[in-house]
Amino acid sequence: MKALVLAGGSGTRLRPFSYSMPKQLIPIANTPVLEYVLRNILDLGVTEIGVIVGDRAAEINQALGDGSRFGARLTYIQQDAPLGLAHTVSIARDFLGDDDFVMYLGDNMLPEGIAGIAEEFAAHRPAAHVVVYKVQDPRSFGVAELGPAGEVLRLVEKPQEPRSDLALMGVYFFTAAIHEAVRAIEPSARGELEITDAIQWLVTSGADVRAGQYEGYWKDTGNVEDLLDCNRHMLDSLRPSVAGEVDDASVLAGPVVVEEGARIVRSHIEGPAIIGAGTVVEDSHIGPHTSIGRGCAVTGSRLEYSIALDGASVTGVQGLRSSVIGRSASVGTTEESTGRYRLVVGDHTRVEVAA
Ligand code: G1P
Repeated sequence: MKALVLAGGSGTRLRPFSYSMPKQLIPIANTPVLEYVLRNILDLGVTEIGVIVGDRAAEINQALGDGSRFGARLTYIQQDAPLGLAHTVSIARDFLGDDDFVMYLGDNMLPEGIAGIAEEFAAHRPAAHVVVYKVQDPRSFGVAELGPAGEVLRLVEKPQEPRSDLALMGVYFFTAAIHEAVRAIEPSARGELEITDAIQWLVTSGADVRAGQYEGYWKDTGNVEDLLDCNRHMLDSLRPSVAGEVDDASVLAGPVVVEEGARIVRSHIEGPAIIGAGTVVEDSHIGPHTSIGRGCAVTGSRLEYSIALDGASVTGVQGLRSSVIGRSASVGTTEESTGRYRLVVGDHTRVEVAA
C-alpha cells in the first residue's frame, strides 16, 4: 500500500493567506495541516508517500524534507497546472505502480485518524472505497447517492441540486483499477479531471465501489470559518505544558501550552490556548480557543477564538474574536480620533468592525 498526498492547488478560498503560503501548511494548533495528514497515513503503517506539489513546491519541500523526520519516504511529484485530482493520479502513475493506495487531500483534517476506513477497504478490496460525511450544504463537495445496502449509485462533483446530504471526504482508497478510469474520463466544466468522475466511471462500468460513512470529526480546511472551527476542535484535546516563562502576575487557566522561549507577562491565558516559541504576551488576555504562532508580540490586547500566524503583532486592541492574523501582519491602534480607522489591507483581505 502506498499513499498519494495532494499538496498543490491554489487555495483561492483561503486568500490572502494562500497568496504567501500553501494552504496545506496553515497551522492548526501551531502544527501545519500536512503534518496531521502524514501522521494519519503513517499510523496505517504506510511509509511510501507521494506528495503532489504545484507552484509552492519549495515551501512544502522545506517543511517536510525527505520525510525521514516522520519516518516516511516522500517522493515529490510536480503538477505543472491544477488540472484536477484525477490528473494527479495519472502523473503519479510511475510512483504508484500497480499498488493499492490511499489518496489524501492535504487540506483535510481527520483528527481521529483513518484506520477504520483502511480496515473497511482491506476487508473487501473494492476498486474504490470512498468516505462520505453528512453535511448541511453539500453543494461545494462531491456528492454521493447511495442505495439501500450502502452501495454507490451515483457520484456528482459540486452539484447545484444535490440528491443527498452525503459529501465525499478527501480520503479515497483505490486499487490499480482507478488508472483505467482516470484515462477514460474527460475534463469537467471547470476544466479539471475530477476524481469523482473517475470513480463514477468505475460505478458505470460495473466495478465494485463502496462507501463508508465517517462518524468522527472532519473538516476540509479550505476556508477561514472551517479553519477556526478545526483549531477549536484540536485545542480541545490540548495537553498543557509550559516550557517558556510565565511571571508571577500572570494566570494560566485551563489547558495552556507555552512553548520554549515564549514569555507571558502580566497576562491572563485562558485555555485551551497555545502560545508559540519566542512569542511575548504582555498585559493581555488570550483565549479560549486561540493559537498564537512563533515570534509574535501581543501587547495590551484581548484575543479569543483566533489564530495568529508566526511573527504577527497585536497591540492595544481589545475585542478580537474569530480572527486570523497572517504572518508578520500587525494589528494596532491609530492616532486618528475615536470612531475612525486606518487600514493598510492587502488583496482579498477581510476586515470587519463593529457596526
Ligand atoms: C475536493 C473534491 C470533492 C471533495 C472535497 C473534499 O474538492 O473534488 O469531491 O468533496 O475535495 O475536501 P475541492 O476542495 O478540491 O474543491
